[in-house]
Amino acid sequence: MRMSVIGCGYLGAVHAAAMASIGHDVIGIDVDERKVAALNAGSAPFFEPQLTELLTEGRESGRLRFSDRMADAAGAQVHFLAVGTPQIPGGHAADLRYVDAAIDGLLPHLRPGDVIAGKSTVPVGTAARLATRVADSGATVVWNPEFLREGWAVHDTLTPDRLVVGAEPDAAGERGVAVLREVYAAAVEAGTPFLVTDLATAELVKGAANAFLATKISFINAMAEIAEASGADVALLADALGHDSRIGRRYLGAGIGFGGGCLPKDIRAFAARAEELGRGEAVGFLHEVDAINLRRRERAVQLVVDALGGLVFGRRIAVLGAAFKPFSDDIRDSPGLDVAVRLRGLGADVVVTDPAALDNAAAAHPQLGYARDRNDALREADAVVIVTEWDEYRRDLSPAHAGGLVRGRIIIDGRNCLDAAAWRAAGWQYHGMGRR
Ligand code: UDX
Repeated sequence: MRMSVIGCGYLGAVHAAAMASIGHDVIGIDVDERKVAALNAGSAPFFEPQLTELLTEGRESGRLRFSDRMADAAGAQVHFLAVGTPQIPGGHAADLRYVDAAIDGLLPHLRPGDVIAGKSTVPVGTAARLATRVADSGATVVWNPEFLREGWAVHDTLTPDRLVVGAEPDAAGERGVAVLREVYAAAVEAGTPFLVTDLATAELVKGAANAFLATKISFINAMAEIAEASGADVALLADALGHDSRIGRRYLGAGIGFGGGCLPKDIRAFAARAEELGRGEAVGFLHEVDAINLRRRERAVQLVVDALGGLVFGRRIAVLGAAFKPFSDDIRDSPGLDVAVRLRGLGADVVVTDPAALDNAAAAHPQLGYARDRNDALREADAVVIVTEWDEYRRDLSPAHAGGLVRGRIIIDGRNCLDAAAWRAAGWQYHGMGRR
């Protein structure tokens, strides 16, 4: 099927490449000329496992092209909207300017029967508004939220755990759903649940899923606070809770909390939209979820300060990790970088290292020190803080090796990802988050 993907960021570039890999003829559109040039050259503009391979394959097959001209989207049967919806400056709501700009650009090129499939995370009610905007063109709006995780984006796009398509309950909506069923035929045939809803429910599924995940993480981080006050161990607690199949162990990883381009801004936008709808109190708990999350960063800083005897001024601190999570170079709202920035603000000599996100971090926070080599970051450090659980730190860093490089054997495990006993046995003072 001929399709366009408008917006080629973390979501759109992966979607475009994945759709081409399953046989569709795809044009990706983005306003950023440099990004378009990189994608056309088969080079991923950000770190995402398997994306380069798919871009190269798409280029060689001739089924995947990128352009900065919206006119090149003309003739596609489906237009996927994958532009960003960041937090508005100075507020909590979602900024829909890129969504509206995409529709403005697309309008002159739409033909009757075209399907616009929204993938961007939007406040409930947006799809219906966009449907009104494009009504005269004869195009149909459906909503097809995306649940991919960065670092697993290719995997999650090609083998999603469910597909959700929201549409108006009329003939045009039914046709839109049928077109999307055809787009995802391979996954549907492989048994992926395909849920058809109204527009509002489809938009809400995404907001609700992210709100639930954020709540689960903050729940266990709230338990970490109680564990800290009572001498319990939150990691053992999470294991015990996780065996209850109604609860499950995933997303019960206590630590410095969630970050990234989605969960933090999405729960704020969700709460802001609920307030607009006069139902703010229904999701009032999301403010608490946000507050718990932010308190964990402060807690990590406090652990470092306490471990260094109350003063970090002039002390050298190695921060292992900058990306908001492993297998990503994304530093948007990275809890780990926030911890690094706060420590620097207290006068510490902070050296950050990360296998993928160092350039992004250095561009955003030039006041921090950086080392490309993990060993250089560790050398002469008075304390070490792990903020992103990359395999390079979690699995491959031995306490004996690190102990030979640092000045002080103090480690703060911001992700509870290390074997505490092994580090203690090697003479380290180990501090986890909510752990004994
Ligand atoms: C998330 C959702 O998972 C995805 O479905 C949605 O489409 C976009 O938002 P992503 O932002 O890529 O995806 O990351 P995710 O793997 O969910 O992690 C989010 C944050 O939560 C990371 O900072 C991670 O470190 C943190 N996290 C995750 C925890 O602190 N504890 C956990 O147990 C799990």
